Amino acid sequence: MKTGRKTLILPAGQAAAEAAAHSLAAGGLVAFPTETVYGLGADASNATAIAHLYAAKGRPSFNPLIAHVAELAAARRIGRFDWRATRLAQAFWPGPLTLVVPKADACPVADLATAGLDTVAIRIPAHPVAQAILRAFGGAVVAPSANISGHVSPTLACHVESDLSGRIDLIVDGGPVEVGVESTIVGCFEAPMLLRPGGLPRERIEAVLGEPLARPPADLESDESQPLAPGMLASHYAPRANVRLKADHVAPGEALLAFGPEIPPGIEAAAAVMNLSPTGDLDEAAANLFGYLRELDARAPRAIAVMEVPEEGLGEAINDRLRRAAVAR
Ligand code: TXA
Ligand code: MG
Repeated sequence: MKTGRKTLILPAGQAAAEAAAHSLAAGGLVAFPTETVYGLGADASNATAIAHLYAAKGRPSFNPLIAHVAELAAARRIGRFDWRATRLAQAFWPGPLTLVVPKADACPVADLATAGLDTVAIRIPAHPVAQAILRAFGGAVVAPSANISGHVSPTLACHVESDLSGRIDLIVDGGPVEVGVESTIVGCFEAPMLLRPGGLPRERIEAVLGEPLARPPADLESDESQPLAPGMLASHYAPRANVRLKADHVAPGEALLAFGPEIPPGIEAAAAVMNLSPTGDLDEAAANLFGYLRELDARAPRAIAVMEVPEEGLGEAINDRLRRAAVAR
C-alpha cells in the first residue's frame, strides 16, 4: 500500500528541524533519529495524522504509541507522575526510557494514540536531532519505530527509506543511532513493572528504585487482545528468514549472527557471517543487532543461526528481540 506521498530526505541540521516542525504542524509524517532507533513522528494531538501514521506503518490500531517531548514540564502536562515515576524521570531522562503513567486531566494526546487506555507512554529522547525537532515543533510527538509493522526497527535512515519511502513526508538523516534497541518501558503502576526490556538495563532502574521491577503477566506476550503492552506481540521483530537461537554450529546455507570471539563449527559453509561484537561487548551488540539482522536477511539464507548472548545489561533486550524474531510465523 503506497499512500502516494513524496518522501523528502534531509540531512540533520537547523533547516531539517524547521522543515520537520512545519510538516508535523501540517499533519505530516516525519522520520527522525532518536538514540535508540529511528522514530516515525506525528503530532500527538492530531488524530488524523495519527491515523495516517498507523496506515503508513501497516500497524494494528490497538497498539498504543509513545508521546515524545523535549522536557519534564511538557511530560507533566501529559501524564501524572507519582514519586517513583518522578525518580525515574529525574535519573534517566533524557534517555532510552519510556514511562507508562496515568493520563493527566487535560492530556493533549489523542485517544487514537493511546488506544483508549487511561495510561499514556511518555519519553524524553536524548538525541540532539530529536531534541531539536521537538523544540522546534513545541508539542508532543508520537513516534513508533519507523518501520513497516513487523519488520525490525531502523537504525539507519536508509532502513527507514526502504520500508517507508512513498508513505511518509520527510526523513531526517542523522546517521547511525547509538543504542540500537528501543527504549526500556516501565509501567509506573502500584508495583513498577518492566513492560519491555530495552536500551536502559533493568539493573540500573532497579538500583534507582531500590526494588526489583515486577514482570508483566506471563500470558501477555501471546495474547493479541491484551492492550497492556501490545508491542510485545510475540512475533514483532521479524526478519523473513527463520531464526535459530543459541546456535553452537552453522548448518550449510545458514547465515550466522555471531557474538564474541568463538568460531562455531560449520562456518565454512555459511551463507554469510556477521559478528554483533567480536569482543563480546553487549552495548556494541545492541547497536549492531537490527542492522545485521536486516543485512543477513537480505541474503535470503536458509535460516539465521544466532549464537548465545548473555542475559545481562543490554543482553536482556537483545535476547527479547531475538526471541520475537525466532517465533515461527
Ligand atoms: O525507543 C523507542 O521507544 C522508539 C523510539 C522511536 O522512541 N519507539 C518505539 O515505539 O519503540 P513503538 O511504538 O515501536 O513501541 C511502543 C511500545 C509498544 O510496545 C506499545 O504497546 C507500548 O509502547 N505502549 C504504548 N503506550 C502504552 C500504554 N499506555 N501502556 C502499555 N504499553 C504502552
Ligand atoms: Mg516498533
